[in-house]
Amino acid sequence: MKIAVVGATGLVGTVMLKVLEERNFPLTELIPVASEKSVGKEITFKGKQFKVVNMETAIAMKPDIALFSAGGSTSLKYAPLFAEAGTTVIDNSSAWRMDPSKKLIVPEVNAYELSIDDKIIANPNCSTIQMVVALKPLHDKYRIKRVVVSTYQSVTGTGVKAVEQMMNERKGITDGPMAYPYQIDLNVIPQIDVFEANGYTKEEMKMIKETRKIMGDESIRVTATTVRIPVMGGHSESVNIEFENDFDVADVKSLMQKTPGIILEDDIDNLKYPMPKDAHEKDEVFVGRIRRDESMPNTLNMWIVADNLRKGAATNAVQIAEFLVQKELI
Ligand SMILES: NC(=O)c1ccc[n+]([C@@H]2O[C@H](COP(=O)([O-])OP(=O)(O)OC[C@H]3O[C@@H](n4cnc5c(N)ncnc54)[C@H](OP(=O)(O)O)[C@@H]3O)[C@@H](O)[C@H]2O)c1
Repeated sequence: MKIAVVGATGLVGTVMLKVLEERNFPLTELIPVASEKSVGKEITFKGKQFKVVNMETAIAMKPDIALFSAGGSTSLKYAPLFAEAGTTVIDNSSAWRMDPSKKLIVPEVNAYELSIDDKIIANPNCSTIQMVVALKPLHDKYRIKRVVVSTYQSVTGTGVKAVEQMMNERKGITDGPMAYPYQIDLNVIPQIDVFEANGYTKEEMKMIKETRKIMGDESIRVTATTVRIPVMGGHSESVNIEFENDFDVADVKSLMQKTPGIILEDDIDNLKYPMPKDAHEKDEVFVGRIRRDESMPNTLNMWIVADNLRKGAATNAVQIAEFLVQKELI
């Protein structure tokens, strides 16, 4: 089992290597791939050194699976070349997510859609992944009509340059590289990605469209406000969900507790609720603050937190790869 990690020197790629190692993924050969500037750099995996190669070398090595996290344009150009060489690509960028011929997969929700013919598989946006893991069991039981979500997203979601910007600002360095149009430390920026003609950002529209595609239900209405905040451990979301049917709060909590991949942290008497500091470097989605919306019938409020580099990116991609291996779909 030859695995290429494309973008191995980046934030997601680095976590991808860690997750492959931790989960003891059954690989026999690792191919770390990055841009020309990183070729020859050494990557440590399971105590061994591997040299970073470029795209062309990696394609010629015909990996079984390529885990891509190297940006949308790189993916658009190279994923089909890997696929032509017989490699199954699992792509973290937004390049293929809304392509009707490509599957958009969160294993806990819709892994059953995958077949041996899927040569380019899309990994959803980080904020969408953590939300749908919690929404799916609720939709199956109570039928979701509408979701209103506001996000509080970590700077790690923008890549290494953003982390550097925030850390520089903390040290008082004012002439470092800027990943955002404004200072992020001691600030909140209500813009993630570029604005679209309807006044929403691309990130907000991703959450709306990707949620429906993953849940396989175009009738679910979603509206989102996505916000960048100066934290590192993960993304947090305040989610308001209106159902067709009424629910019992205790039932919702027990459903969350039973769902694989979710950890319920909901004990307000002891001030227990999910926080990005605690979700950091964890693979699960954390859910808490579950309560009835007293202003609307059949409506629930909840708080969802996950490490965006883990379940929001690397872990989800590795879980897809694990599913493909287990079901012999490569
Ligand atoms: N951060 C997140 O939470 C998150 C979540 C989900 C999805 N994603 C997606 O994952 C991708 C990477 O994000 P990131 O945060 O890891 O960014 P990053 O830290 O900036 O890393 C980018 C990686 O891509 C490589 N790369 C860039 N251009 C390349 C090219 N032409 N050929 C080969 N490799 C190239 C870089 O190599 P060099 O080091 O050589 O430049 C680096 O390894 C993006 O598409 C992003 O949208 C990120």
